[in-house]
Formats: sequence, C-alpha cells, structure tokens
Amino acid sequence: MKPVLYVIFALFYIEAVSQYQEVPLATEKKMSWFADAKLGIFIHAGIYAVDGIDESWSFYNKKISHSDYMKQLRGFSLRNYNPAAWADLISESGARYAVITTKHHDGVSMYDTGLSDLSIVKSTPARQDMIAPFFSELRKRNLRCGAYFSLIDWSHENYPAVTKDSSRYSVENDYERWNRFRTFFQGQIKEISVKFNPDLWWFDGDWEHTAEEWEAAKVRKLVLQRNPDAIINSRLQGHGDYETPEQNFPVSKPAHRWWELCMTTNDNWGFHHDDNWKTPYEIITIFTDVVANGGNLLLDMGPMEDGTIPPQQVRVLKELGAWNKKNGEAVFHTVAGIPQGHFYGPTTLSKDSTVLYLFLQGNNAGPVTIKGLKNKIKNITIPGFGGTLEHKIVGKISWSHVPGIVYIEVPQSALDKYVTVLRLQLEGPVSLYKGRGGFN
Ligand code: GLC
Repeated sequence: MKPVLYVIFALFYIEAVSQYQEVPLATEKKMSWFADAKLGIFIHAGIYAVDGIDESWSFYNKKISHSDYMKQLRGFSLRNYNPAAWADLISESGARYAVITTKHHDGVSMYDTGLSDLSIVKSTPARQDMIAPFFSELRKRNLRCGAYFSLIDWSHENYPAVTKDSSRYSVENDYERWNRFRTFFQGQIKEISVKFNPDLWWFDGDWEHTAEEWEAAKVRKLVLQRNPDAIINSRLQGHGDYETPEQNFPVSKPAHRWWELCMTTNDNWGFHHDDNWKTPYEIITIFTDVVANGGNLLLDMGPMEDGTIPPQQVRVLKELGAWNKKNGEAVFHTVAGIPQGHFYGPTTLSKDSTVLYLFLQGNNAGPVTIKGLKNKIKNITIPGFGGTLEHKIVGKISWSHVPGIVYIEVPQSALDKYVTVLRLQLEGPVSLYKGRGGFN
C-alpha cells in the first residue's frame, strides 16, 4: 500500500474510533477553579428589557403575543453598553466568573450568528455583538467566561413548541424536521465555541426534550472537543458536571460534589419594573450559607436595554464586594465547613482544615458556642478587627478525651455591618467529637 493510503486509512480510523470514545467526566483538576470561585455573576441581557417583561416566558405564557414581544427588537439599543465597566463591577463584587445569555428561549442571539437573522446584530438598532467585548474585558481581569445557551428556541420555525398550548408539530411525527432544528442549535453551539471559547457552558431548557432528542451526549462532546477544560452545568439531561438548584436554597447539603445556586437579585432574571430587591444582608447570608455547604452562588443581574445596570443592582454588588474584600479569606479557596450541630450557623474550613471560619448572622454580640471540637484553639481573630478574642472551655473533664464546650466572647465593636467572621486557628487539622457525651 502507498504511504499516502496509510495516512488516509489512519485518519479514517481515528475519526471512526473517536466517535465511540468516552467523553471525559468532570475531574477534580478540571473543576478546581470553579470550586474555588464561590461567586459568579449571571447576566440576563435580552430584548425583554425593552418593555421590562418576563424573559421569553411572557409570550410562551401568553401574557403578550409573539409578534408584540418581537417588537422589542426595535427598542434594543445598547447605546450605553460599557463592557469594561461591567467587568469592573463584577470584579469589584468579588466574583470570579460571569455567565451571560448568548441566546434565551426567545431565540434572539446576543452575538452575530451566521445561522439566523434573529440576533441583536442583524435585527436591532444595537447592531453589535455583546459577547466578544464582554469576554475580552472579563479575561483582562482574570475572570472566567460563561456562556448561557438555551436549548429551547421557541421562535425557530423548526422548534416544536411556540407557546404553552400551541405547537408547530410533534417530534415523533416529524423527526426529520426535528433533525433540522438539531443541526441548527448544534451549529450555534459550535459557533459559540469557536468565536468565544467559553470556560463554562450554562445550558438551559433541557426539560422540554429527552437526552436522546437533544443528543445530549453529542452536545457534551462538541463542547469538550473544542475545549476539554470547559465546565458544563447540569441542564443537559444528565450530561453536565454540576448541579444547579434555582432560586431556593437547598435545606440540606446537595449530594452532588459540585453545585451552584442561581438566584435573582430582585424577583426577575431580566430587567423588570420590580422593586423587590434583596438586601445586601440577605445576599451575604445566602452566599455564606451556600459556600458553607460546598457550593457557589451565581447571582443574577438584568441590564436595561441601553446596557445600563440598574443602580440598586450596582449597590448590592458593591456592598457584597466590600464585604468580600474584608472577609474574603473565609470564603474563597476554602472548603465546606463542619457538620451542623457543632455550631449554629454556617462554617468553612481552610483547605488544610487548620483554620475554621464561623459566620455570625444577625449581628449579635456576646458569647458564641462550639460543641465537640477536639482541637486546641491557638487564637481567634476577626478580619478587620485588631487583637485576639478570649475563649473559655466549659465542662471539660481532665481525664476524659471528650472535649468541653467552647465559649467565645464577641465584642460589639468587632461586629461587621452584615455578617461577622470568626477565624479560629486550630492546632492541627480539625478533629470533631462524634460521641454521645459522658466519658467516651
Ligand atoms: C429558568 C428559566 C429562565 C432563566 C433560568 C435561569 O430555567 O426558564 O428564564 O433564564 O431559569 O436559571
């Protein structure tokens, strides 16, 4: 056989084998930046900001007709869009990554897609791609870049559903048409991979079809072929890397090794006429509780149609940033804290587990207690407060290994405006008593 034939044969073989190769699962190494990041900012930018109505859902739920919804295209200007200022604010908040909508369920691409005219570049006065300049500003500040992408596309002629009770066709009856849609959405995923190379993919809307219908395994492969380090959220019918509870805090620690709570700052994802803003105190208590349970918080903001970030949103991010600046040691690069019952509140640990951080909610001075801590405490400090705090051990029997209860006196003057952090330097890695009391 001629050498050139060998080469051709080898290429075919590699291609054929790679079809069946297992797609790598998440590894500790790949997930490490995400695990350390703790805070991300979610951005729901879209034409829904023009009228300040529900993103995509407003026409799906028939609050407005699809054609009236699309009239918002005319009003989307981005005339005050300043991606550098956005990235500055995100960085100031303490976040380590941002995730922006490249396309929501309404099908309007926020970048220049070659596969449809329905984009802010071709169909709105903004006439520009939002994603490339934003990612470039994020990367200048060492922030990771996430692409939100809706698998659902209610505006696409080959997508089965349009509104909640009307549909174009059913997948079972016209698989060829569905296949045309698949080629389209997977084409957009390839486009986004090539143009922006996201560090993280935030898929949404997987609930409308099965893994087989989306070809979820193939989608995962598409993404990882371009960037093997890309992280994928869970909304890909079982083919993601981490769990995404939404809005409501899980009461007990999620079982998944990696998870991220996505949450709005008022009650809406996109810009809305909604004044129910969460306070900085509420955001910080939720944030520290998430981190104490081993997760990340993806806090959302909804910019206006001209690219302005609402002032209330800016305030929350700046307050969060100031708190992180002072107390960030207790949050970033830490791991989940000790199990509930030892201390009535969230806790984290340094990675070598020789430092235990306690988060005091509610701003109460006075004694704080810890049960079942076997380690000696070398010292106790509070970020931003000079000096060390006293502690007393109560109920320790000298000849028993059962630890006593630790009482720490927290002075009023040491309290943080929002959540106070106690830093306990332990002797050795944390060790907890799990017994039933008494002498053993
Ligand atoms: C929901 C909604 C969507 C929103 C998303 C963010 O899945 O469908 O509108 O973008 O949550 O998590």
